[in-house]
Amino acid sequence: ADLPHFRRALLRWYRKHGRDLPWRESSSAYHVWVSEVMLQQTTVATVERRFHEFLSRFPDIDSLACASEADVLHAWQGLGYYRRARFLHQAAKRILEEHDGVMPSDPKTIRALPGLGRYTANAIASFAFGARVPILEANTLRVWSRICAMRGDPTKPPVSNDLWHVAEEALPRKEPGDFNQALMDLGATICTPREASCDRCPVSTHCRAHEEGLVERFPELPEK
Ligand code: ADE
Repeated sequence: ADLPHFRRALLRWYRKHGRDLPWRESSSAYHVWVSEVMLQQTTVATVERRFHEFLSRFPDIDSLACASEADVLHAWQGLGYYRRARFLHQAAKRILEEHDGVMPSDPKTIRALPGLGRYTANAIASFAFGARVPILEANTLRVWSRICAMRGDPTKPPVSNDLWHVAEEALPRKEPGDFNQALMDLGATICTPREASCDRCPVSTHCRAHEEGLVERFPELPEK
């Protein structure tokens, strides 16, 4: 595969067609973290409406850590899955106690915090700190499954491990965070679940599923 061309084409597309989202106005690790936790189970449209409101109530890690749990849960109203808000609050307290109130930049250290899995830790490390670490969530999983024409259930090992590996190998040295967000936007706006718009895809010439005319067949998700 011609990785340099793939990276260039994807990043060029992202500069022109990437989504303007409120949490992309800042590369603050705290802002990235709050947005990613909200986006885990809440739609982009809802998070767009609620993001700044939450930040004006809790502008930084200190203010979140020092708030009562009741106040944090109150600010989370309408976002659902309140366990996420409790983890967010607990992690803020741990960051205050163990990291002087500053989000660590090392993905493994981030991942040791309450509620932070591989995806969210790597999203924070790459978007906020420029770490060269891959992400894999619903959108990027679909994109990579199609590019690789990957057989088998991509949500579980061993296939998920293969996809993490592919996503890692593809990362550019420069701007890995933009590269990750570009893949996410490609999945959200072009390489969508029902009908992929391959005619508008900047990397269709790199896509095995497209080449084989089998785009709708991937990802091979288990029946619900
Ligand atoms: N879904 C999860 N994280 C996201 C992000 N940073 N931008 C857009 N959609 C997302």
